[in-house]
Amino acid sequence: MRVLSGIQPTGRFHWGNYFGAIKQYIELQHEHDGYYFIADLHALTTIRDPSLLRANVRDAALDLLALGLDPSKATLFVQSHIPEVSELYWILMTGAPLGLLERCVAFKDKEARGIKADAGLFTYPVLMAADILAYDSQCVPVGEDQNQHIEVCRDLARSFNAQFADTFVMPTARIVKDTAKVPGTDGQKMSKSYDNTLGLFEDAKELRKKIMRISTDSRPMEEPKDPDTDHLYQLYSLFATDEQRQEVRAIYERGGFGYGDIKKRLADAADAFLNPLRARRAELASDDAYVAKALEDGAHRARKVAREVLSRVQKACGLT
Ligand code: ADP
Ligand code: TRP
Repeated sequence: MRVLSGIQPTGRFHWGNYFGAIKQYIELQHEHDGYYFIADLHALTTIRDPSLLRANVRDAALDLLALGLDPSKATLFVQSHIPEVSELYWILMTGAPLGLLERCVAFKDKEARGIKADAGLFTYPVLMAADILAYDSQCVPVGEDQNQHIEVCRDLARSFNAQFADTFVMPTARIVKDTAKVPGTDGQKMSKSYDNTLGLFEDAKELRKKIMRISTDSRPMEEPKDPDTDHLYQLYSLFATDEQRQEVRAIYERGGFGYGDIKKRLADAADAFLNPLRARRAELASDDAYVAKALEDGAHRARKVAREVLSRVQKACGLT
């Protein structure tokens, strides 16, 4: 099965990005034909600083490789390295009803917050549809927030197929519910827009300090607490083994503990998980040739598929 997903290089990845999205990509690469890309064209809707965009793309590639994305198993590439996608984007634009795009929440939210939208932001879901359809993708693992965009993609594919010829493979979204919402340091959804993130590769000491500052409630120590409604426990359970989880659950249910102790356990568990990844990332960062080669090979493989699909599309709609 062809599995595809993209991630925007708009900042350093945080725990929410990993447990909500990247972890799935890595698991799926073993059994499926994974296509994963760094969505630099989408990032251009918000990043207008060329050196920042370049640095972010490199960081995203290093992060994904260090986290376990294996270029010998999955196809890892940069969105803009496949120009066929941009042509497909135009073709899909010609059949995209304005009303469909106006209903997309990502655009509506920005507009409601007074952010002036440009055509790129408005047609963002059409580029996403081109990303998906260009590789005959069958399965698209994404967070809940992207589900509407997958629906737009299916609508565009369906109407193209009906109007011209059966051309596009119909993709389905794959949404993982239990880690769909990793909380941030303030208990809200972790997001770079809320300034409540815990970075995957931020400095270990800084990370520990941030963990020690995670907000907690002010109930007395003696009172037993429900771990399932506590964001500190939710964060701990991302890294803990079953045994560690049971032990900490029992502490919550018994009461009489300080949150400082749980935070320390969280910092230790996160360190144990992240240390080997940090070492791997440092190794990769000193091997530019390896990273460049991985992206080049990925683009080569992806482009071959995109060329075939685009040619099918061109033929179907009369572009010769
Ligand atoms: P951010 O909210 O920090 O801007 P993005 O929107 O760039 O993050 O998300 C990239 C991917 O990570 C998406 O697939 C998204 O669903 C997932 N993701 C982001 N934050 C979380 C979170 N707190 N919990 C689970 N998944 C998340
Ligand atoms: N819009 C997605 C996000 O912000 C990233 C993305 C771009 C994507 N193109 C895609 C995800 C195609 C899945 C499929 O998270």
